[in-house]
Amino acid sequence: MSDLSDLVQRAGRVLPGGVLGNHRGESDLEFVVREGRGAYLWDANGRRYLDYLLGSGPMLLGHAHPAVVEAVQRQIGRGSTYMLLSEPIIELAEEIVGAVPCAEQVRFTTSGTEATFMALRVARAYRGRDKIMKFEGGFHGVHDYGLMSVAPRSPKAFPAPTPDSAGIPQVVEGEVLIAPYNDLATTEALIAQHHDDLAAVIVEPYQRVIVPAPGFLAGLRAVTRRHDVPLIFDEIVTGFRFAYGGAQEFYKVVPDLAAFGKVVAGGFPLACIAGPRAIMRHFDAALEGTPDYVWQAGTFNGNAIAAAAGLATLGELRRPGTYERLFATGARLKAGLQAAITKHGVPAQVSGEPPVFDLFFTDRPIVDYRSTLTADRAKITRFNQELVRRGVVKAVNKIYVSLAHSDADVNETLGIFDEVMAALARG
Ligand SMILES: Cc1ncc(COP(=O)(O)O)c(C=O)c1O
Repeated sequence: MSDLSDLVQRAGRVLPGGVLGNHRGESDLEFVVREGRGAYLWDANGRRYLDYLLGSGPMLLGHAHPAVVEAVQRQIGRGSTYMLLSEPIIELAEEIVGAVPCAEQVRFTTSGTEATFMALRVARAYRGRDKIMKFEGGFHGVHDYGLMSVAPRSPKAFPAPTPDSAGIPQVVEGEVLIAPYNDLATTEALIAQHHDDLAAVIVEPYQRVIVPAPGFLAGLRAVTRRHDVPLIFDEIVTGFRFAYGGAQEFYKVVPDLAAFGKVVAGGFPLACIAGPRAIMRHFDAALEGTPDYVWQAGTFNGNAIAAAAGLATLGELRRPGTYERLFATGARLKAGLQAAITKHGVPAQVSGEPPVFDLFFTDRPIVDYRSTLTADRAKITRFNQELVRRGVVKAVNKIYVSLAHSDADVNETLGIFDEVMAALARG
């Protein structure tokens, strides 16, 4: 087998930036995964890491969970993909409809990006308007509408958008309005002013690792309902993670449409849009050739292996006490990280709900995107790097907690958090 530095060099020659499109690390900290099992990853040199990246979230049960491996092995012997209905995909759709309050029907896609893109398209078809509203700092994948004001360096006055990527046609800027997350009064005023142009409002109910302020989601639900504008929850992170019914169950606010990905496919590429028949009917092929028809199809949509992995994952999540255990593990990690911050007198804070949270190096309360800009970016980069040096991997802006993290793993992690905070306090 090749050695790690050789693999990193080979990747640098054939992949732009030497990576897969995710964030780039320090070159001496890049690693190439050989294996993932439970709460751990091993790199190509055989070094073990505690994994709080979890494949960017899908691996809520941990890597190579026996129930998922078994379900996939059973399915793969029957073929990989058909682009036709199969029993696992019908069963997965039924499970989502049973679990998710807003779901009467489900349409599958291959990625979360496609799911939010199609949720916006079907909302446009239903509502007969073009513009969409999203929130500053909210991420919905990498399509042209989603990559507006996700991470603007110098935010503009609301509702003007800032494109986050080169290559997005300028006309798209005219189709997207930006509102401030957790600022209900400004959002209500913008919706009241623009409702007649709006096809949909899309929001991450839990934006990145920012908790919705009391009444924000309920107020957003009320104002969108008042103006007949479909409300879309992007539940790609929160779905089946905050509760079996997602953030809409956890925060008790039900949107019109929702997008799911990550956990729902147990580590395979599958995502979906869920919503009421009145909107979802636009996907029905019986409408083909009419102005109501929304064209949505894809070679790998409804892939049977992904469906089998998703069903096995959801089966594990339905076991009694699962979410209590996940929240308890996350709460211990959050409390321990905050204790290390306080002990070493570092100006930082932990933000978010127990299943997925992060820290910000600022004293200012984290309530929206603009408050995150007050955080010291160099310090979080150093924090992430010091963790990798000590064998802990996290997302650049998130700590994902899994059901595979044991008490011993948490203890080990908290010891490392303490060491890293001590190092940061020394400067
Ligand atoms: C909230 C949210 N929406 C959409 C996406 C895009 O999903 P995917 O990476 O499957 O395209 C992500 C991915 O991290 C996400 O976090």
